[in-house]
Amino acid sequence: MPQQLLLHSPLDMHLHLRDGEMLQKIAKESAYSFCGAIVMPNLTTPVTTKEAVIAYKERIKEAIGEEKFEPYMTLFFKSDFDRTFLESLKAHITAIKLYPAGITTNSFGGVSGFDIQTLQKTLQAMSDLEIPLCIHGETNGFVMDREAEFVPIYERLATAFPKLKIIMEHITTKASVEALERHENLYATITLHHLLITLDDVAGGLLRPHLFCKPIAKHPKDREALLDVALKAHPKVMFGSDSAPHPKEAKETCGCAAGIFTAPIALQMLAELFEKHGSLEKLGDFVSGNAKRIYSITPLSKTVVLEKSPFRVREHYNGVVPMFANETIAYIIKEVING
Ligand code: NCD
Ligand code: ZN
Repeated sequence: MPQQLLLHSPLDMHLHLRDGEMLQKIAKESAYSFCGAIVMPNLTTPVTTKEAVIAYKERIKEAIGEEKFEPYMTLFFKSDFDRTFLESLKAHITAIKLYPAGITTNSFGGVSGFDIQTLQKTLQAMSDLEIPLCIHGETNGFVMDREAEFVPIYERLATAFPKLKIIMEHITTKASVEALERHENLYATITLHHLLITLDDVAGGLLRPHLFCKPIAKHPKDREALLDVALKAHPKVMFGSDSAPHPKEAKETCGCAAGIFTAPIALQMLAELFEKHGSLEKLGDFVSGNAKRIYSITPLSKTVVLEKSPFRVREHYNGVVPMFANETIAYIIKEVING
């Protein structure tokens, strides 16, 4: 019998489910294999109100149909959110996502300065109400240096609000990994693609638009640092796919949109990667255990049975091209058991 691997209640702690037609096209890919996900709020009109959070969650639930899947909702950070507003939202959201203005897809309404005074009111209220802060940590400097340049901002915020849980989203650098050790209240999500590729894979040969994302994949030494903490399921890191679908036409064009669609192959490829490095016993903590503890959540129970058996990845999912399209990967999802 082929080798099997059981994953209990896998969670995706950073996911773009989009809206409208795209939501209908891709939601089930995550809802099938994960038991829940932190849903990003960067819709064309960002999710900034209670009504918008509730209505978006409804649309997600409709799109996923019968699948057992919890969308953990987030709000798009604004520095004028006050305590009363956040209190009224607390039951409806799991975190708030902060984007620097204009740094990535649909982030134009984000934050344009990081002085503590401007952010004080909202961050103090979040800290008091125990609402975690997720940050897309990039400056608008040179593209390869943006994340490392943001590390001092993470550190200033972590020091100013020591009780606030700050999640450094989709980290790509050794500098971010090292910052985890310096502040008790800093945590991180790590994507599949940043564990697998470097800038060489994106632009070292022919340009690969389906591997283009923000933050851009970096240097081999950065990937090594990420692999080191992911493969041992360091208690402060968790899996967040940052699966970010765009229509094929928006990727294969002059002016390619940033984002890699990994949802349909994420768990299979994580199994392949962890097996290759002899770390399969740590995969459960990386994709579930750590997130449960960091976010204090009790996810829905679902068991994903992975089997080592070659599988050719589809060319597209309703017109959205996944990572590893047309390539053969080592694991399949054999079965998903609700329980
Ligand atoms: C994301 C998207 O398309 O929404 N793109 C990406 O390259 N990761 C936004 C983000 O997380 O930066
Ligand atoms: Zn993202």
